[in-house]
Amino acid sequence: MTKLPVLWCSSLSLLAVMACQPEGAGGTDAPAPEAGGRPTSPPPPPPPAGMSDAEAHQVALALWHDNDRVKHPKGSCSGCHGADFFDLARIGTTAEDTIRRAVNDGATQEQAEALAQAIGAMRAELELPQTDARTFRPFQPGGQVLLPDAEGHPNELRVMRDVAFGRSLEQLLPTWFGTRISSLTMAEQARDEMLDLAQGTNEGGANPDLVQLRDLPVGFEYPRWSADLHHGTDEGTFNDWIADMAFEPKPDHVEDWRRVQDAYLDDPTDRNFWLMYVASFSMLEQITAPLCEVNPELTELEARSCGHYRTLNRDKFSVALLGQHMMRTEAMGTENEFMQGALSFAHLDFDRDFDFMYTDRKHGTLLGSGDFWGVGRTARTSVSSSNWPGSLQEQLMTLQFPEFVIESVDPDLDGNTEHHGLRQVWTWIGFTHDPSLQRLGRGATTSGEYSHASYREGNWHIHTNFQQHMRLLTKGFLDAPNVRQRQSRAPLEQGESRFGMDYRFFIDGSVWGGLRWKEDQRWDHQLPLPESLKAEQKELWDQMTSNGFRMSLYLYLDELQTSGQVTSPLPPQSMKSHFGRTAPQHTEADRALVDEVLELHLALGGRTKF
Ligand code: HEC
Repeated sequence: MTKLPVLWCSSLSLLAVMACQPEGAGGTDAPAPEAGGRPTSPPPPPPPAGMSDAEAHQVALALWHDNDRVKHPKGSCSGCHGADFFDLARIGTTAEDTIRRAVNDGATQEQAEALAQAIGAMRAELELPQTDARTFRPFQPGGQVLLPDAEGHPNELRVMRDVAFGRSLEQLLPTWFGTRISSLTMAEQARDEMLDLAQGTNEGGANPDLVQLRDLPVGFEYPRWSADLHHGTDEGTFNDWIADMAFEPKPDHVEDWRRVQDAYLDDPTDRNFWLMYVASFSMLEQITAPLCEVNPELTELEARSCGHYRTLNRDKFSVALLGQHMMRTEAMGTENEFMQGALSFAHLDFDRDFDFMYTDRKHGTLLGSGDFWGVGRTARTSVSSSNWPGSLQEQLMTLQFPEFVIESVDPDLDGNTEHHGLRQVWTWIGFTHDPSLQRLGRGATTSGEYSHASYREGNWHIHTNFQQHMRLLTKGFLDAPNVRQRQSRAPLEQGESRFGMDYRFFIDGSVWGGLRWKEDQRWDHQLPLPESLKAEQKELWDQMTSNGFRMSLYLYLDELQTSGQVTSPLPPQSMKSHFGRTAPQHTEADRALVDEVLELHLALGGRTKF
């Protein structure tokens, strides 16, 4: 906290401005304007360059929160970005872009310049890293995507990055990628290595650098904080962190909301953050809406998309709040307190200081993690899917979105590309915050069918496979995914973890019939992938599937033997077919293992169909 400077001061009173001065930077010490102006004219307002940083901060913050709809028809800056402009300082937005966007959104030139000055001062004061907002992708694990400089058709690039991901796992998960898993001991070793990756630990001995899932480089490019069409068509997308339609306090919450935000800015602790985050749901309302929300003549599909766009926008506002706080705590050096272990925010489950969060939790939903996942999930039913071909912009026009939203997207952006772009990366981000997928809430899949379906669309087969096994193991062996809430608003209770083999969508979609590429099945994926690349991907995938099944079979057998309880259906046929297609030297032993588990599973009353 020692780094917290003047810049967090948020009160607008003069006294506070004085109290907030950094040492030696008194507002009155600003150089006097040069003498020699026309003597008869009234004294001009001091040029912005003459403002002290503290004054510029106050002017900028007043602009940031000004929701006078005459001056700012889209709403206040804070209504889309968050409590202050830390985001712009952190990502490296240039003064030119700041002034351009601020003036576009109703600021005067003076206010816009004060904002640019305040952002520069905040950057210097907090010693924020130098980043280029065009290339910086917040929270990208490891700082950059795998194979950052690779070139090629997007279809091919995806597979290359998927393969690179598999290769990177070989060292971290040596048992999974090693010889045939042929005993419970080996299965437990493979499990421990993977749980190390979930938790950032090294119990299994293969993770000396304590790599954690949120730091594990992947093939997905994380979104820019701000994707602004001004910089090129590549940025004409919703796939960034800022809400597109503003949230402002309801009339009877204007003071309250400002108070919660100020408390947070004055002391940006995790508690003050969550208080603000939770309050945002009851105190705020979205102030602009597409006309489709009041148009009774929509088709069923259109009406559904329309409603879900509202949810998407709310999810984006939530991730803007979260992302701002995550970047801020990182700058303050306290990031490890905010996100901890496998399920980022589960460390608050039984902390009485955070009891207020239970009231808004339903059935153990983890606040936060569910929002990241939610952006991807709501993209599935809002942004056009295969049921609604055409461009994103056409869709937004049909739904009668406000013009400023329609104009912010690339006219040539195909809706389906946008849809899967959002869905693939945001479900992955959500997964890194809850790898068990059990507590993402609000009707989220707990078995990963929607992420898998979308990863398959992009041939992210290795990522899918990894996600599937990570889900089974974290759910099966960690406490945090297995909490219960007897009724909404009641405190959480710890449940028991049990390992099960719930591979349902993985088996249906990926395993049955063997690995398939979209290029071989669909007319709209016309570019054939190089055979050598497919072969390399398939080899890795077969290895992961075979040893993944074996690991699970041993772990499940152990579960059945010790607890005597069936925990999931077991699909013997699809596993046996898989074992018949790969590694013929092991087929017999693998099938015998399936039969052994099946026998006990059936004896205990288990089913063979999902
Ligand atoms: C209705 C929501 C909304 C409001 C209100 C809003 N912004 Fe933004 N802002 C965005 C979005 C969304 C982006 C990301 C770029 C895009 O989609 O155009 C963004 C991006 C920016 C950027 C970065 C642009 C770049 O080059 O990457 C700046 C600077 C900015 N806003 C400043 C402001 C200021 C200052 C205000 C208030 C005067 C404001 N914004 C009000 C939604 C909003």
